[in-house]
Amino acid sequence: MRTQVIIIGGGPSGLLLSQLLNRAGVATVVLERQSRDYVLQRIRAGVLERGTVQLLHDAGAGARMAAEGHPHHGCYLTQDQHLFRVDFTERCGHAVMVYGQTEVTRDLYDAQDAIGATHIHGVQNVTLHDLKTTAPSVTFEKDGMQHRINADFVAGCDGFHGVSRASIPEGDRCEYEKVYPFGWLGVLSRTPPVMDELVYANHPRGFALASMRNETLSRYYIQVPLTNRVEDWSDDAFWAELRARLPQEVAERLITGPSIEKSIAPLRSFVSEPMRWGQLFLCGDAAHIVPPTGAKGLNLAASDVKYLSDGLIAHYAGDDSGIDGYSDRALRRVWKAMRFSWSVTTMMHRFPDQSPYDQRMQQVELDMLATSTAARQVFAENYTGHDF
Ligand code: APR
Ligand code: PHB
Repeated sequence: MRTQVIIIGGGPSGLLLSQLLNRAGVATVVLERQSRDYVLQRIRAGVLERGTVQLLHDAGAGARMAAEGHPHHGCYLTQDQHLFRVDFTERCGHAVMVYGQTEVTRDLYDAQDAIGATHIHGVQNVTLHDLKTTAPSVTFEKDGMQHRINADFVAGCDGFHGVSRASIPEGDRCEYEKVYPFGWLGVLSRTPPVMDELVYANHPRGFALASMRNETLSRYYIQVPLTNRVEDWSDDAFWAELRARLPQEVAERLITGPSIEKSIAPLRSFVSEPMRWGQLFLCGDAAHIVPPTGAKGLNLAASDVKYLSDGLIAHYAGDDSGIDGYSDRALRRVWKAMRFSWSVTTMMHRFPDQSPYDQRMQQVELDMLATSTAARQVFAENYTGHDF
């Protein structure tokens, strides 16, 4: 079997890359370890930057987002009992789109079906070969049979635990990592959101976030110790802890209900450089991980895909400047998002080893955000996303 670009991973990165390349006449094959249903049952974040919104429209996968998504022109932050709002549109002229990643993935699969894109699900033992030659290939097993696909390029869109990054020799990779000493316990509930916009709460008991998917579907998070397990948290215990961390004026509005999804996710900052090695290009979580505090994960995957798809399309038109400059260009934007995600995570969470001085610094950071127009402009520019 032969194609032009083999895409490993059928999550948001892989699907969006496949969609943009096929719409430009570049042939791809997507290799996905899981079933489509498994991929579609994943619950992830739900805040899209304007660049991601535009790219989904460019990919012909933006119609449902436009109809069902919710533009948000600001968000709330709280420090103990004090609630204040950052107005994105007033400060930087941009908004974000609240629309679940699960829905984005569903829309991309539908768009891929509409153009007859090639996906192979349930692949195992995916192995990358001859990446430093002009004739790379990928072997894999499917239903007990061994297969090989030859191509011009391989796109590693297989996430943090995928095979692509590991196919780059350790000596050729430079990795940066910060693991946070806590996790996020997330609950999805079929209840109306507590506020009209997201609420990020800094509280002595720990961080909390009130988010949403739509008018009847809410997404809440509380910071928990890494030793916690999901079974340690009943719904009642979760709602009581969330209420305790929200300002009273917000907590008294909270409508609770049974959790329809409950999970604990660890937090880390991670970057692997470079994002190209021979004919292999890394995209999205395969190359970098951000703590969810800044809602940057999907948006960084989108900007990677924008740069790589533009570069590969240009390659087949005789111009290699895009693929040659891909890694540097993508990493410049990745590191800006890394900084923002790290800074908001540091400002909003309780760290086990936090000194009284550290806590005062958090309070001052939040006071600056509450009182300084300039500070709110920097926050708004970073939260709504830098240009792609
Ligand atoms: N072979 C084939 N597929 C694989 C392999 C493999 N060896 N390893 C992983 N995969 C698949 C996974 O099953 C998953 O569907 O690659 C896909 C990677 O998808 P994501 O982890 O969602 O990463 P990405 O597409 O880059 O999207 C980034 O997803 O996890 C969130 O917070 C993250 O919002 C960000 C977004
Ligand atoms: C979510 O809705 O899941 C979400 C929103 C904003 C974040 C993180 C998660 O910063």
